[in-house]
Amino acid sequence: MYVKTLVAALSAAAFMAPASLLAQPSNNFTLIQGKTLAMGKLVAAADGQTAYTLLTDSQKSDEKAAALAACDKACLSQFTPVKALSAKPQGWLLAQGLVGAVKRADGTLQATFNGHALYTFAGDKAAGDVNGQGFNQVAYAVTTVGKINTSAPKVAQAAAAVKTVAPVDAAQFELGKDKYAATCAGCHGPNGEGAFGAPLKGNKMIGNDEAFIKQILVGSGDMPSFAPMLADADVAAIATFARNAWGNKLGGVTVDQVKKLR
Ligand code: HEC
Repeated sequence: MYVKTLVAALSAAAFMAPASLLAQPSNNFTLIQGKTLAMGKLVAAADGQTAYTLLTDSQKSDEKAAALAACDKACLSQFTPVKALSAKPQGWLLAQGLVGAVKRADGTLQATFNGHALYTFAGDKAAGDVNGQGFNQVAYAVTTVGKINTSAPKVAQAAAAVKTVAPVDAAQFELGKDKYAATCAGCHGPNGEGAFGAPLKGNKMIGNDEAFIKQILVGSGDMPSFAPMLADADVAAIATFARNAWGNKLGGVTVDQVKKLR
């Protein structure tokens, strides 16, 4: 009888997990199965905040050196270790064998999942937010089977696509045209047709203003970071130009947007 009731309670909990996420299951859990609209089920802290692992914590020393350089002090200040309630912490709707803890240098216990040390992100306001995903190409959410999830959030892309197109400032567009020719055309082609770098003409990715701004500021792969050599106004102008030249109609980008992301 008791077993039957327990099974019923557990399956009810499993069924209700997505809707009841904000109602924390119990305060004995260190980690729970979180449900996000943008990325599906992910490991979360007990309050539902998405948990991220930082590649700066990666075991391989060559990866670690590169990741450390990418996640500077400012980046690290955005992430708070998820506190483990004990050395053998509990997970809710998670494979118990993957839930663990590691002792930090200051003696506190940090939650791990499948060995990945976990952090919450200051930019996440509510349970289910995934604003830290891909931060500085260092912070990534962890799936409920313990894999690092490097995919892009779906909702952010969809939201960017349906957002009404911001007006384009003519003077900014002209400034962007000059700056693009001087800075980007060598690799992406004078008409955005692509060369060493990807084509920007007809490129959907640049419709996501935040992703585009970050691409310019941070770079990726063989594209260098332009943060040191371009002022916020230059970055905004280049983005505005590329988003509205060559048949692109993706709307303007403001200097404030760049300032916030730098
Ligand atoms: C030295 C050559 C080089 C320069 C200069 C350069 N890029 Fe790139 N860019 C690349 C390469 C290579 C990639 C592909 C990077 C990768 O694989 O991660 C890329 C990727 C991109 C992407 C992502 C495209 C996609 O579909 O994911 C955008 C957007 C972009 N660059 C815009 C710019 C802008 C705007 C400038 C000028 C501020 C610029 N790039 C300057 C080489 C360059």
